[in-house]
Amino acid sequence: MKSQGPFYGRSVSVVHDLTADEQWYLYRKTAEIKAAVLEGRDLTAYRYGDRDLSVYLIFLEDSTRTKESFRNAAAFHQASVNVFDAAHSSFNKKESLTDTLKMLVGYSRRSVFIIRSTVEGVTRALEVTIGDYCRKAGIEPPSFLNAGDGRHEHPSQEFLDEFSFLEKKGWNRSSLHIALTGDLYFGRTVHSKADGLQIFNQVTVDLVAPPELGLPDFYKQKMLDNGFTVRTFPSIDAYLAQGEVADVWYFTRLQLERMGDEVLDKVARLKHAVTVRPEHLDKLPAGTKFYHPLPQNRTEPTIPDFVTPLPLNGWDEQSRNGYFTRITLIGMVAGCLGLDFKGELKTVTESGDDFVEQGRINPHGKSSEYKTGIKPVDDGIVIDHIGMGRSVEQIWKLLDKIRRNLQLNYLASMGVFSSVKSDVVKGLISIPDLPDLGFKKVKKLAALSPGCTLNIVHGKQVIQKYRLHMPPKIYNFAEIGCRNENCISHSRQHEGISPEFERRGEGFVCRFCERPHTYDDIWTD
Ligand code: NCD
Repeated sequence: MKSQGPFYGRSVSVVHDLTADEQWYLYRKTAEIKAAVLEGRDLTAYRYGDRDLSVYLIFLEDSTRTKESFRNAAAFHQASVNVFDAAHSSFNKKESLTDTLKMLVGYSRRSVFIIRSTVEGVTRALEVTIGDYCRKAGIEPPSFLNAGDGRHEHPSQEFLDEFSFLEKKGWNRSSLHIALTGDLYFGRTVHSKADGLQIFNQVTVDLVAPPELGLPDFYKQKMLDNGFTVRTFPSIDAYLAQGEVADVWYFTRLQLERMGDEVLDKVARLKHAVTVRPEHLDKLPAGTKFYHPLPQNRTEPTIPDFVTPLPLNGWDEQSRNGYFTRITLIGMVAGCLGLDFKGELKTVTESGDDFVEQGRINPHGKSSEYKTGIKPVDDGIVIDHIGMGRSVEQIWKLLDKIRRNLQLNYLASMGVFSSVKSDVVKGLISIPDLPDLGFKKVKKLAALSPGCTLNIVHGKQVIQKYRLHMPPKIYNFAEIGCRNENCISHSRQHEGISPEFERRGEGFVCRFCERPHTYDDIWTD
């Protein structure tokens, strides 16, 4: 391999791990490769062409298309290909992925791991743990490609879906009107559309599914945040009864294996709502195409057999596109494709620790202003404005939490008081003779009680004042946990992954499975 493109060593856990320009590059390059393959042209310029590239397929959940298209795409690059599945490897002896991968990364100069799992956030977690391990061991960190994680995302499927829509639209990106139907609740290929459809400028998404199979709210919200027009219909019948029908339909199968008994009891009715019937066809706009990530449930398909020979069938071509898009994706992260990329590259900005703000000190202020019912402090620290705006009961709970979490086992006093300047109540902790809290505790305090102030008192004077803000990341605390039970962050013991949250807008998301959390949701006690 001669040169390395700009995507060398990158991982793709979710669709937005590639910028819009990078996705567009992937689609255009795929079109080029597809044409070259179909026309039987020389393919040397597109392939890695060296067995020092190792591609590992780790499929801990069943797969046919994704696995085979990735395997063949790796073979296109003349890579050495290794296939692991749950049944024939020591994963069923409960070995962790981390332990297995630590061994495998040492074998070749360039490794790409393609992983499918029921656990959400796996590839992101491995990117972190194996990446750290490799950097310490002086080994080149591998790339990770998510081949579907639980009901979270399926980015490589999304790329082939968008590629297929672009082909249908003759590469016109101005607008797309799409109906998403079937199991929108469990369907990870649908969830990836919340970002993937952004390749089009104006997007109208019609969600066609009964409430039991409805799109989780946070994906719907993401679509709205991304500027899509979103409409909801409980069935194909209800959808076709109104005038504006999409000419691109995306079907998904009912994921019975992920459903609980209460939903399984209703399957016949649910299936009826999202299954095509002959009387539907003349209500579709001219040129409509049906897509499906496949597999279909053969005994009860949502697109029955009578549709297969019709020009509506877009899914066979879509399925073939999986091979071409995955050739491009592997080529990009292996470094042999991308040298002709122009546009915005993804930049990862580590959020800093911008949670401490130096406050203004009143030169005439005396620490005695902190004597309201608690011991005045001559020297020491006073934490003020704790839980401001919350109820008295909530503030007491918060004080208790701060005391336990920061292990403030000192001679100290704390209480809930009304603010001098308003009727609002606030919590206050004063700790005489403690010179400072230390960085770790200050950060923890900021996470537990954003908005509070930390005063350092010396000789009865407040000599330093800090206002603490919500930190951009909350991690490294025993008392936090992701609310998604299927998230990799619950495998602290097995994979050595601990929960981490990143601030996004008003709330937080889990770093691994991206489930949104409110600030209060993060804390387990
Ligand atoms: C999909 C998947 O695994 O999420 N299939 C695929 O990758 N081709 C959809 C499904 O399982 O129904």
